[in-house]
Amino acid sequence: MSKKTSAISGFYRLSIPERLDKLREFANLTDEDIATLETFGALDAATADRMIENVVGSYAFPLGMATNFQINGQDYLIPMALEEPSVVAAASNAAGMTREQGGFTASTTDPVMIGQIQVADIPDLKVAQKSILEQKENLLRVANAQDPVLVKFGGGARDLQVRRLDTMMGPMLIVHLLVDARDAMGANAVNTMCEMLAPLLEDLTKGKVYLRILSNLAVNRLARAEATFPVKALGGAKAVEGILKAYAFAQADPYRCATHNKGIMNGIDAVLLATGQDFRAVEAGAHTYAATREGGYQSLTHYEKTAEGDLHGSIELPMAVGLVGGATRTHPVARLCVKILGVKTANELAQIIASVGLAQNLAALRALSQEGIQKGHMKLHARNVAVAAGAFDDEVDQVAQKMITEKRVRFDRAQEILAELRKKTT
Ligand code: MEV
Repeated sequence: MSKKTSAISGFYRLSIPERLDKLREFANLTDEDIATLETFGALDAATADRMIENVVGSYAFPLGMATNFQINGQDYLIPMALEEPSVVAAASNAAGMTREQGGFTASTTDPVMIGQIQVADIPDLKVAQKSILEQKENLLRVANAQDPVLVKFGGGARDLQVRRLDTMMGPMLIVHLLVDARDAMGANAVNTMCEMLAPLLEDLTKGKVYLRILSNLAVNRLARAEATFPVKALGGAKAVEGILKAYAFAQADPYRCATHNKGIMNGIDAVLLATGQDFRAVEAGAHTYAATREGGYQSLTHYEKTAEGDLHGSIELPMAVGLVGGATRTHPVARLCVKILGVKTANELAQIIASVGLAQNLAALRALSQEGIQKGHMKLHARNVAVAAGAFDDEVDQVAQKMITEKRVRFDRAQEILAELRKKTT
């Protein structure tokens, strides 16, 4: 059997049914899976009503497949859910550039989350800190007793640390509970453990516990990816120079770096959303991680020129994702996206997401430092404007093309062109 490839040439030119055929073949999808995708919004009322409160409907995003990705020697078609044009194409394009170099190499740390327990109003902080640390093993045992399933799968509370924090409301002890969440995102397991430990910590410290909650700054649950992008594929030495200049700009300036990291999150959030993850948690972790780097708010990616003149890129960020529990299991499309990826562990999913973040950033920096991003954006944007102005079928492309040629992509102009077009054909 030939090895399956995500480098499906001309995927963007196929009709939706043709793309579904390719996807069915790549990911071994069933008729039922294809039917789920064909509904373009497969969340039924009963499921939606169980997921959140006060449900009145559902809200669908386009779901696209990024092609060309090869990560740790394996090919993936990557589902991305988002509303912004050009993102899926850009990620696919960057992934294609690094294929001849073997694609992305990605890794993760163990999936260790941090739970925080805030203990205030402590009469003697030094004594309290000592008492907690003396009872560490016992506290870890109590925490683990809350989640025998997690422990059975090799996870569970691993360590407990105590930090003194001086705040505007006086000094406090912040207890960090480090929990290996395995294939869960971990919020439920960690929060339950923290709530369980709270009365014990009050006893030990003679203080009062206030917050007991997971930290989204998951510095012990990092995902990393790297890849080499050949100078030729990037468009020559000038393109490499341009990307390095763009990277230097981001490292030196938080105004630019916010946008630079936003571009990374364009790709990351889209995969998170497609697979039913808590994308706000990853967003919060990513930007805080970027802000805690030496030198202030920094890029999540890093670039350098290789001895051969190629560009080597890497990315590192906290990646709290899970495959058990949450929308990943309840949302039919999220479930299907996990099946399409074929991932077996949360760590594998984290590696894919980090690779998409790197690809997205590379593509943005290459375009921005060369032709700019408007050229790529304009075609889809013009089509959207044409549709908004009332164009149907063939009219859409005709109106869009005329606006692009005239360099006037505007709603009022689209209406005029459409009126002229219709006058001609009547
Ligand atoms: C737009 O959504 C994302 C970019 O602005 C990212 C960047 O500037 O690096 C193109």
